[in-house]
Amino acid sequence: MDSLLPRERTDPAPGAVHLSGWLTLDQQRELVEACRGWAAGPVPMRAARMPNGSQMSVKTVCLGWHWQPYRYTRTADDAGGGQVADFPEWLAEMGRDAVTAAYGAPDRYAPDAALINFYDDAASMGMHQDKDERSPAPVVSLSIGDSCVFRFGNTETRNKPWTDLELESGDLFVFGGASRFAYHGVLKTHPGTADPALGLKGRLNITLRETGLA
Ligand code: SIN
Ligand code: MN
Repeated sequence: MDSLLPRERTDPAPGAVHLSGWLTLDQQRELVEACRGWAAGPVPMRAARMPNGSQMSVKTVCLGWHWQPYRYTRTADDAGGGQVADFPEWLAEMGRDAVTAAYGAPDRYAPDAALINFYDDAASMGMHQDKDERSPAPVVSLSIGDSCVFRFGNTETRNKPWTDLELESGDLFVFGGASRFAYHGVLKTHPGTADPALGLKGRLNITLRETGLA
């Protein structure tokens, strides 16, 4: 039924598009199931360690390329050394659908890395840029489970101006073009807001990226 609801669109900055309710409840459930599988291996979901030694509060598992602060590798050298799971074609198609929904059909969009982030009730993510990719292609972000306060800033500094918005379960956020390298972060989640039908306690965020790496 939720697929029949109108999809509200906002553009918080040039090139940044928020489409609420973009995923149906069934799609969200399927993604939760898929994430459970990816979190189990071959590389386990883990909290990445920052260069200063601190650990992220978010737990991450990757597809296609393994990300650790601040580089991509094919093997998960900071998480057991396993080979990263393949990036499935159906997820790339979902990424192309997302870019089409945001900007119209692209000539080409071939995401080859996904970061799956899990937020427990206490997790957050500081302001940062996604800039370890060598491709200027947009980043596609899918949110499932608890809603959160997402801060979307500017490309110059991690400070104002920024827009705070609520990302809810099923929402799509795409940032490309003039916003591709904008700072962004997650201030907090709203624990317990996930639809019980998802069978998920917490929040999942999946970002699809083109690394530009071979
Ligand atoms: C990220 O910036 O990688 C994650 C954003 C989010 O969790 O919404
Ligand atoms: Mn990011």
